[in-house]
Amino acid sequence: MAGRFPNQWLDELRQRADIVSVIGSYVQLKKNGHRYSGLCPFHNETAPSFSVDSQKQFYYCFGCKASGSVIQFIMDIEHLTFPEAVEYLANQLHLPLPEMQNDPAYEKRRSLKERIYLANKAAARLYHQYLWQAEGAEILQYLKKRGLSDGVIRRFGIGAAPGRPDVGKKLMDEGFTKEELLSAGLMMEREGRAFDMFRNRAMFPIIDAYGNVLGFGGRAMGDAMPKYLNTSDTPAFNKRYNVFAANLLRKARGLTRVILVEGYMDVVALSQYGVEGVAATLGTALTPEQARLLSRYAPEVHIAYDGDKAGQKAILKGLDILEEANVPAKVLDFPGGLDPDEFIRQEGLEAFQALKPISGVYYRMLREKEKHDMSTEEGRTAYAKACATFLQKVKEPVDLENYLKRLSLETGFDREVLLQQVGITPSRPVTTAPKRDSFRQKAREASGVDWTGRTLLAVLATGKLPKDSVSPEDFDDPTLRSLCQDLLAGESPAALMERQPDERGRAAIGDILSINTDMDDDGLMQMAKDCLKKLRRARLENELDKLQTSLPNLLPEDQPKAMQRALELTRLLSEQK
Ligand code: UTP
Ligand code: MN
Repeated sequence: MAGRFPNQWLDELRQRADIVSVIGSYVQLKKNGHRYSGLCPFHNETAPSFSVDSQKQFYYCFGCKASGSVIQFIMDIEHLTFPEAVEYLANQLHLPLPEMQNDPAYEKRRSLKERIYLANKAAARLYHQYLWQAEGAEILQYLKKRGLSDGVIRRFGIGAAPGRPDVGKKLMDEGFTKEELLSAGLMMEREGRAFDMFRNRAMFPIIDAYGNVLGFGGRAMGDAMPKYLNTSDTPAFNKRYNVFAANLLRKARGLTRVILVEGYMDVVALSQYGVEGVAATLGTALTPEQARLLSRYAPEVHIAYDGDKAGQKAILKGLDILEEANVPAKVLDFPGGLDPDEFIRQEGLEAFQALKPISGVYYRMLREKEKHDMSTEEGRTAYAKACATFLQKVKEPVDLENYLKRLSLETGFDREVLLQQVGITPSRPVTTAPKRDSFRQKAREASGVDWTGRTLLAVLATGKLPKDSVSPEDFDDPTLRSLCQDLLAGESPAALMERQPDERGRAAIGDILSINTDMDDDGLMQMAKDCLKKLRRARLENELDKLQTSLPNLLPEDQPKAMQRALELTRLLSEQK
């Protein structure tokens, strides 16, 4: 796949896209020598087993074995193909793309996506213009009635799709083809004729963090159905991977939390009142991908869904999703079933800011309590048992103590009894994983794998050894030997990983190269020497072993020579000691 981009250019891209800073914007990393560690974004864990090697420019998870170069990381976390990830990084670094080498399919896909972005942007401009003209008067009046200011309408680029729109026609006049407009979801086809998709709706453009218009949410006037019509998924838009107002999230600096709301109107209203860092899902339940996307902009997410029954259910699901993705989450609970839009308009900014975010655990307890008749022993017992399962996830002892106190007051059970209940619940997650080092050590010894050869390769991959200090012949294992050849030929570890056809190939290399080589140049040289010595010794021992087993079966005339070699090997071995 990499063949589309010149290798040299890819090398430059990898170097400029420093893997630690790229991954650091998704994962909180702690520095430890050349290595940085954090919680793996690709599987659910509470103790960090994800490591990023700044020296060799690759990442590796000791837990789930996810591994690869910076490009692989972007592919996996942003759900992009290789060329898309390359382009994504190149865009961020303002590194011009090299001429794409003869791949018409790629060109076509890429250009369709770009055409869709362009068409959407042109459409957004038209809708916004209509809003201030006669065609959009009714829609503007609706927005005003809902309290939107001109300023906020401009900030979000809200527009109007008139009742008898000609957006499709206008866009075709601008040079977009019918096919492009159909692909963009701006038009639809019925009985061979193409119509505008959005009619008589207030239009909310959905814009990503880079300013691309991905699609639209169209709010019906009055009670027309559906209340919101959203652009369906297109080659440029997937609702699961995007959120509303990502463009504003990116602009906001130093956010301490992202507020996640349900509706476009909620985002707009909060913004109008001066609340920054608000985003909404796109008419579907929160996905893990969106959870990770949000976590890039602030250390925690506060769920601020509607206070009604459906909202409460969605909050519980949202908490699960966020926690699964290791994103700290809290809840803003609105009294009286209000949504954030209604709340801030009725109560004002100060009241909104005075709302105390509730922890996920406490929120679950509140909701759980409603299910039980707390005046009966049965009800209190069932409630205590359910809460005990929530409390297992609490990591801080002082937090746990607070919850236990509260629960004890609510149920009448002693704190100690409750603590025991927290401990015994069967679904308790395993927290007693063996210590990694000793575990790895044992695994190594038992595996019969050539750890010395692997260690030597890891040292070689640092690029700190003189070229002639190691040669492919030092390795017996064919895989290690060819890796050695590639490294000596000047390939970077990251590029080597990218060349692997699949995850297993990458993990195999990641496994080797993640061997700790955190030491100064002298240390590395010494480590290499030790490895070489061990390898040579192993080779001699091996040869001697074979010789000794074959000796009795040799023809008499061959035996003296073999004996001599055996003696020589014994001497070499004893010299090595
Ligand atoms: P709501 O029904 O809470 O709407 O849906 P809202 O945002 O508060 O809008 P107003 O205040 O009634 O005008 C929340 C979100 O769910 C999605 C939209 O993203 C909406 O913002 N939704 C809702 C749809 O996609 N389609 C629908 O028909 C309804
Ligand atoms: Mn609403």
